[in-house]
Amino acid sequence: MKKITIIGAGNVGAHAAVSAATLELGNIILLDTNADLAKGKALDITQSMALFHNDTIVKGTGDYEDTKDSDIVIITAGVSRKPGMSRDDLLEINANILISIVKQTIHYSPNCILIVVTNPINTMVQLAYETSGFSKNRVIGMAGILDGGRFKHYIAQELNVGASEVTTMVLGDHGALMVPLEDHCQVSGQPIAELMPRERIEAIVEKVQHGGSEIVNLLKTGSAYFAPGLAVIQMAKAIIRDEHKMLPCAVYLEGEYDVNGAFVGVPVVLGNNGIERIIEIQLSDKEKKAFNVSVAHIKERTQDLNKQINVGKNSEDLNS
Ligand code: LAC
Repeated sequence: MKKITIIGAGNVGAHAAVSAATLELGNIILLDTNADLAKGKALDITQSMALFHNDTIVKGTGDYEDTKDSDIVIITAGVSRKPGMSRDDLLEINANILISIVKQTIHYSPNCILIVVTNPINTMVQLAYETSGFSKNRVIGMAGILDGGRFKHYIAQELNVGASEVTTMVLGDHGALMVPLEDHCQVSGQPIAELMPRERIEAIVEKVQHGGSEIVNLLKTGSAYFAPGLAVIQMAKAIIRDEHKMLPCAVYLEGEYDVNGAFVGVPVVLGNNGIERIIEIQLSDKEKKAFNVSVAHIKERTQDLNKQINVGKNSEDLNS
């Protein structure tokens, strides 16, 4: 039986736990610094599974020892944004939370695969990679599946077709500069350029880029959680069941797509080893240009964080 730990029993973590339990992916641990919150939600989820004739048990805890020997650890903990905030505004506060989580996680599960959902994802996953010292196939960021789902929804709504007819791909950063690939979007194999005018496609691309904010502005108290929770479990399922599914994920690039040393959303094959391989698809000139802008933003934000961390380190040295 596989063991999956979800860190953070907020909305995204709890929905990831429900999705993993529903799919009977294994033993599930839901950990939060607020142990009772994790225990309460875990109990509620476990009791809901009993109604489905599903024997999955979700264990809530505040103790990292319970996460020992996890196969997959999903990190959702951190602060989520409120209306008017960008994901980048969460950088510093979530970085400190993430470093502490990764250190405790790898102490108990040195062989796990880490999946990071905490925002800003592309920088947080790089921090998890550097803090853990894990090989790059075992540290993955969630984003493209969620953004691709939003793209599917908007196209389906526009054309009045089922969302399952639509195939999408969203690359780059998980933020306003993400790159929904309009030339790769199809409805039952038909390119969308043949189904709707260019200006409608462009309007939809913009809606996808601000899809998370649309929900933040409606909820007013936090960000989306149903789709993010399910999206990360699609990744966990592909890994646990060795599905070799091609899914867009934030992964460490070393030369692929002409990018070096950054976590960028690109299509990868997920299986038992985590990232089995990175797929390089042909981008149009327009897509390539947008992709490069997105990558530049990721690198800039990660450099900003590194500067802040170094400043923190130096002041610690001075104090000691
Ligand atoms: C969103 C959060 C997960 O896009 O960034 O809803």
